[in-house]
Amino acid sequence: MNALLLAGGLGTRLRPLTENLPKPMAPVANRPWLEHLVIRLKQQGIRHIVVAVKHYPELIRSYFGTGDQWGVTMEYAVEHELLGTAGAIKNAEPYLEETFVVVNADIVHYTELAPLIQFHRRHEGAVTIALTEVDDPSHYGVVEQDEQGRILRFVEKPAPEEAPSRLVNAGIYIIDKKALQSIPEQREVSIERETFPMWIEQGAGVYGKRIDGYWMDMGTKERYRQIHWDLLNRSCPLPLPGKASGKGIWVGKQCDIHPGVLLIPPVLIGDRVRIGERSIIGPFSVIGSDSVIEGHVRCAETILWDRCTVRSGTVVNRCIAGCDVEMGPQQTMHEAVMIRTEAMQA
Ligand code: GDD
Ligand code: MG
Repeated sequence: MNALLLAGGLGTRLRPLTENLPKPMAPVANRPWLEHLVIRLKQQGIRHIVVAVKHYPELIRSYFGTGDQWGVTMEYAVEHELLGTAGAIKNAEPYLEETFVVVNADIVHYTELAPLIQFHRRHEGAVTIALTEVDDPSHYGVVEQDEQGRILRFVEKPAPEEAPSRLVNAGIYIIDKKALQSIPEQREVSIERETFPMWIEQGAGVYGKRIDGYWMDMGTKERYRQIHWDLLNRSCPLPLPGKASGKGIWVGKQCDIHPGVLLIPPVLIGDRVRIGERSIIGPFSVIGSDSVIEGHVRCAETILWDRCTVRSGTVVNRCIAGCDVEMGPQQTMHEAVMIRTEAMQA
């Protein structure tokens, strides 16, 4: 069984952060989410990973290459025009094995694939959709099931009063390749709006199974922030890069942190970070690798990507900054999302 990662969406709701990178490459706790995902899939026995990508394919390809460094084989199915979620799967067909797993690459999750695969092997259907329960299903694909788990109805983003349940598509599927025959080629096809309803109607056997563990779509800035808080307070158990130095404090390699700095947990600091005298970092802050924080800085509930500079006397509160952003000196920033403009034009 191999895996296909859908990494081609525009990431509109995460803009400007995703202005110049595919959403799944956005760092989550200082490491691209896609890298966490590759590591996790490998741990679960998946050694062949195909990435379906449209925007900035070279960025993903140059990061992972053949996948050697992660002990997996990685291949890339590049779309030249937007094909939609089912179109992307169809386009990747030559790379797929008889049964494969599809993962929406913007779902941050920590769950086990094995129960899903076992369930798929036991029923006679061609498709298994992982399900999770949410309070407001109107942002997701919502299902209605019978007692055996067969899906009777799949409605993508229904109006709140029209949702048939609170059980939603978790964006992880197990699919038998033979089901792809009925997906049209070379045009945009949405698996959620077109293919699932068609398969259900044709009686292809679409089943759903609840998954346990952590699950969150990182599609909005609020959820992107929430994922970090969940990682820092360990309600999401994905491993964090860096060495735990005290409860709730993780520090990367070769950092230079002045003894007069106060780190208020939980805090995650990348590699080669410098922090100057009397700065206070945390709680709930992530500092990207190679960042420089001068003295007398106050940084709370903030996520800085790599190579940021915060000049002295600056207050950064509830902000998210992309790579290479400079802040201060002597400024206060509250609830801002910043990226470096040259990066956007590149
Ligand atoms: N390759 C490729 N090509 N990937 C695509 C394309 C495309 O044309 N369109 C979307 N994707 C990728 C996105 O990058 C993302 O990883 C995934 O497919 C889902 O697209 P989103 O745009 O993030 O959809 P959503 O979050 O609104 O809804 C989807 O995810 C929910 C779970 O979070 C749906 O699958 C819902 O049914 C589901 O509940
Ligand atoms: Mg999404």
